[in-house]
Amino acid sequence: MFEAHSLANLSKHDQYAELHRQMTALLAGEANPIANAGNFSALVMASLSSLNWCGFYFYNGNELVLGPFQGKPACLRIPLSRGVCGAAASSRQTQLVPDVHAFPGHIACDSASRSEIVVPLVRDGVLIGVWDVDSPELNRFDAVDQQGMEALCEVYLASLTEQTTLPIYPNH
Ligand code: SME
Repeated sequence: MFEAHSLANLSKHDQYAELHRQMTALLAGEANPIANAGNFSALVMASLSSLNWCGFYFYNGNELVLGPFQGKPACLRIPLSRGVCGAAASSRQTQLVPDVHAFPGHIACDSASRSEIVVPLVRDGVLIGVWDVDSPELNRFDAVDQQGMEALCEVYLASLTEQTTLPIYPNH
């Protein structure tokens, strides 16, 4: 059994270093993109403080479709032209949003969310989806979170093998 513990007693840098180590072990030996996305979300939610939602949206070639997540039920589909997720997917740049109410076009799935970080998932130049994390605290995420979340997403992307069929949600 894999035990996930809150890392709140560590510095933020050390939290991500430990989480990276745990994530690498957790995803090792499994290449199913949905199974790994589920465990990825669960480990992040159990380990970091002040999060109310974290999860995946996968790009189906047309729009972003909800994948495995932790938190309240969320919007199912997001066009690339909308929201923080759409901005991350279309620009292929991580979006750090200190105040979601000040972000034009932000899509409120959980009214508790106050700040957000969204990392695009790109493998060999192909957009796979985004990793989205919400916090009930204003300004919860900074450059350390960005670097840490991007490094964690690399662990997820590395877990996919050459045999992984892309898009993960084809034609749906
Ligand atoms: N806030 C996101 C939508 C997804 S939810 O946060 C789960 C956005 O603006 O794209």
